[in-house]
Amino acid sequence: MDLPESTIERIKKLKSKYASIGQDIDAYLDGLIYANPLKYWDYIEVDTLLSLQKPKTDFPDEKIFIVYHQITELYFSLIQHEIDQICYNGKNISEDGQDLGWNKELSVDFFIERLKRINIYFKTLTNSFDIMRFGMEREQFKKFRMSLLSASGFQTASYRFIELSCTDVKHLVHAKHREAMMGKDMHEQLDHIYWREGAVVEETGEKTLTLRDFEDKYLADFHEYLKKMQPINIWRKYQALSEEDQKNPELIAALRAVDIQVNVNWPLVHFRTATHYLAMSQASDSAHEQEGKGTGGSNWRKYLPPHFQKRIFYPELWSAQEIEDWGKSWVEEVLAESVVTGRPRSW
Ligand code: HEM
Repeated sequence: MDLPESTIERIKKLKSKYASIGQDIDAYLDGLIYANPLKYWDYIEVDTLLSLQKPKTDFPDEKIFIVYHQITELYFSLIQHEIDQICYNGKNISEDGQDLGWNKELSVDFFIERLKRINIYFKTLTNSFDIMRFGMEREQFKKFRMSLLSASGFQTASYRFIELSCTDVKHLVHAKHREAMMGKDMHEQLDHIYWREGAVVEETGEKTLTLRDFEDKYLADFHEYLKKMQPINIWRKYQALSEEDQKNPELIAALRAVDIQVNVNWPLVHFRTATHYLAMSQASDSAHEQEGKGTGGSNWRKYLPPHFQKRIFYPELWSAQEIEDWGKSWVEEVLAESVVTGRPRSW
């Protein structure tokens, strides 16, 4: 049988690919002959994925709660994936599909495109939060949350890793320690990170079990991660660009949009949802007694609003007035929208 030139070309490429790693192409061709064609359900691992929801109660809406948290974790992993592309300068893949490792330099266009992806993911998360806010019966939620004990979305480490990759940890220090911690060692700054002031008991200020469990499991990992990421976080990557590239208006707009998405829009829609479910009512069964209370009696009302936290990844990119008004206005959302889509909100 005559093989077309294009097929021969491909076989030659394959041969050189396997030769470069000391492998014999014939063994791999045998593998191809015996392999079954790939099926969607195997590739996407559908059965595994759909077996991962294990409600603790029979309330039907608990499934929505679990799946939406899992969806969020998947988006967070995509966001982290894009962040890694920026921090390690993007993978270099050869024409024949070989991974040639991380690039030496980060191009400004690549930087902007990856930031835009991050913004799309966060915007999608913010918009889809209606699934939480309006997609469950309040009465069911109030009951099934009683069986979740101290577990809380507060304990998502992915969100904390994202923050540590976006900026220097000094910007994540709790507002009340921020001035005192300026210029201190980064690990000392991490010890005063804002979220250690959340999930504390409202009346006493003691750490809730939610916070203690979270610290036991992840605090050492966060310190390790900080050591690795602080020198190459997104802000450092921005600063390493040429002066001209740093002035690129699209890049600045994309960075500002990240700041708004992560530190205002998502926290706001999440806070509104918490208020929707945890608002007080008059009844007095045990589920109702927990109303108004966060997990383990946490200080969520004082802690969650973005205007109180004033987390800002890139204060250098905002005016004093914008910083003063942080989290107060919907204008930022409009701004972020036009950056993400590249067109005005009215479209
Ligand atoms: C009905 C839905 C939800 C309610 C009522 C709610 C409520 C709360 C409350 C009260 C807190 C403060 C700590 C605590 O008391 O547990 C909190 C923190 C948090 N939750 Fe949720 N949450 C909901 C959905 C979600 C979802 C879907 C996620 C996604 C993973 C999430 C992620 C977080 C994070 C990251 C924090 C910490 C925020 C910060 O440190 O600023 N939550 N949530």
